[in-house]
Amino acid sequence: VSFATSKISECARLALAHDAPVVLQYGPSGGYPPLRAHIAQSLGVHESQVIIGQGSLQLLDSLIRVMLSPGDVVFIEEPTYDRTLTLFRRAGANVVGIPLQPDGPDLDLINLHLQQGVRPKLFYVIPDFQNPSGVVMSAQKRQALVDLARKYGFQIVEDSPYRLLRFHGSDLPSIFSMAPDLVIHMSSYSKLIAPGLRVGWMASPTSTMQALLKFCEDTYINPSYFNQALVLEFIQQGWLEENISILKELYRPRLEAMLASLSENMEPPAVWSKPDGGFFVSLELNKPVQVPELFTRAKQAGLILTDGRGFFASGKGDSFIRLPFCALEPAEISEGIARLAKII
Ligand SMILES: Cc1ncc(COP(=O)(O)O)c(C=O)c1O
Repeated sequence: VSFATSKISECARLALAHDAPVVLQYGPSGGYPPLRAHIAQSLGVHESQVIIGQGSLQLLDSLIRVMLSPGDVVFIEEPTYDRTLTLFRRAGANVVGIPLQPDGPDLDLINLHLQQGVRPKLFYVIPDFQNPSGVVMSAQKRQALVDLARKYGFQIVEDSPYRLLRFHGSDLPSIFSMAPDLVIHMSSYSKLIAPGLRVGWMASPTSTMQALLKFCEDTYINPSYFNQALVLEFIQQGWLEENISILKELYRPRLEAMLASLSENMEPPAVWSKPDGGFFVSLELNKPVQVPELFTRAKQAGLILTDGRGFFASGKGDSFIRLPFCALEPAEISEGIARLAKII
């Protein structure tokens, strides 16, 4: 189990000891001010440009409600995070999927859409160890997206909860750092401390943020300051960095086991991503499979799969399998992949 339970318990005690009157009271919708200031400082922006919410997904939902009207075009990578697709669909957006290549979304296709007059309001991307594919967007594509956003007047939503979980190699600049006036950046403590704390955040240009803060205040007054104060204590104790190192040590052998057993068991021309971090490897089969039958057989073999079609706006995805590696021991991963290969 990866949760630092006793440290979290100590942080809960410290949060109340240090700031009970604020932590237990209502407050502004932007979040617990000292944590907000900490996040703003780490990004090099003013704290009025940061909002902390009950997880980053809730903030994305609020952002979508503030920014999109039914029929508005949004670009997404295809595949993408299935919950985001649900949020866009719920808002009545016209979702255009841009196929993901091993170094990020297909720029030729983006250019084609734009040249044909398609005008997205938002482009939602997960550039670091993407959910569900594991892909990292190259520095060139990050820059190209910024240039296109500037030229055609759309905003980029950069969702980056896995960014700090890099096991090898070095970080690429965040898209936000390249164009803070065009990019809405979101991240979370869910994967770094514990998802049950529900502490995620978003940074955006001021004009968007004002509307977002008002919308959130009208919806839920303020997010739980207690959880946020607990997270700040965790950071101030030096435990966040320590925890990230512990998680990397825990997950790295799991990723290695996943990649090794794919090489051992999967027959080409099936291809899979080879990420340097995050939670996911993805497998692209050389032909579509009968998804219901795959599921039935996988279940009989004791494997739980997510329907690949849920990650595609177009409902494609019947040759796509997401392979999360973080929650299983290396031996379980090897065994699971061997069983999956037989079924396929
Ligand atoms: C890409 C992505 N965005 C957002 C989330 C949700 O994060 P949070 O727990 O902060 O709501 C997840 C969780 O799996 C995710 O993979």
